[in-house]
Amino acid sequence: MSLKDEVLTELSNNEYISGEEIAKRHFVSRNGVWKAIKSLREEGYDIEAVTNKGYYLKKMTEKINAAAVKSDCKDRWNVIVMEETDSTNNRAKEMAANGVNEKSVVISDSQTGGRGRIGRPFFSPKNRGLYMSILVRPKLSVDYAPLITSYTATAVSKAIEKLTGKECTQIKWVNDIYINNKKICGILTEAGFDFEGGMLDYAVIGIGINVLGEEFPADIENIATSIEKETGVKLSRNELAAEILNNVYNIENDIHDKSFLEYYRKKSNVLGKSITVYYGNESYDARAVEIDDNAALVVETENGRKTLNSGEVSIKL
Ligand code: BTN
Repeated sequence: MSLKDEVLTELSNNEYISGEEIAKRHFVSRNGVWKAIKSLREEGYDIEAVTNKGYYLKKMTEKINAAAVKSDCKDRWNVIVMEETDSTNNRAKEMAANGVNEKSVVISDSQTGGRGRIGRPFFSPKNRGLYMSILVRPKLSVDYAPLITSYTATAVSKAIEKLTGKECTQIKWVNDIYINNKKICGILTEAGFDFEGGMLDYAVIGIGINVLGEEFPADIENIATSIEKETGVKLSRNELAAEILNNVYNIENDIHDKSFLEYYRKKSNVLGKSITVYYGNESYDARAVEIDDNAALVVETENGRKTLNSGEVSIKL
């Protein structure tokens, strides 16, 4: 049994136990116990630490459950829930390849190979996040496809603000949601096209949200946070999933209509700011001046205006 498992067993008695006591019983240092507690927290265990009393394992997080998600959905969705998978986007793309036609969502409690944009990994520990991939087949021409990610960002931002009751989110062009200047959500859209007809065949919209927990691995703790950490609100992941699904059900009409862009612009944390634009191996300074009707970012550079349809930007402090 690893020290982490031994510490978990010690914490499972529904009472406070000090780090010193655990260390003594298992012939390890208090620092070793503290490290085990830290990594249990990273896995989603809610462990309280109280001076002079010790550690206490709070009630386990509510499980993700298909019936609970469906019961809060206004419309009909095919909901698939998994304990663990490499990437929910992979599962949803398989469903698309197998011809699934219903509006569907794959949600997993954890991912072993969660993917972000530009080949980056997405930290996806169990009991903490909402990792969901929505499979839809909206009748949209290829020209509208870039709007799917920004549309989804508005849907997620609205859902979080409704359920927390706080106007707390900002959208960082093009696919990230922030609270208090740190990232809580990323979106990765992957699509299949009918090249001859110039139409979208399917879109898999992958959404990863840090919902619960306070601890993050050292390599991302300065840039990532969770809804709970920033707002103090412990959202139900089932309710959050359902609210997002409610917000994207009319994707085809909403994207043609484009009125969501007003909210997207209002919530932007880059508009009017000095930014650095990264494009492949290139980077340059610019000022973000506009988000156009294709959700492209218009920037002012020393060589004039440029319209960015994709890429990565960072805000200069
Ligand atoms: C990003 O931050 O660049 C995008 C992150 C997208 C993560 C989500 S989690 C659910 C779905 N499955 C994945 O492998 N990626 C997306």
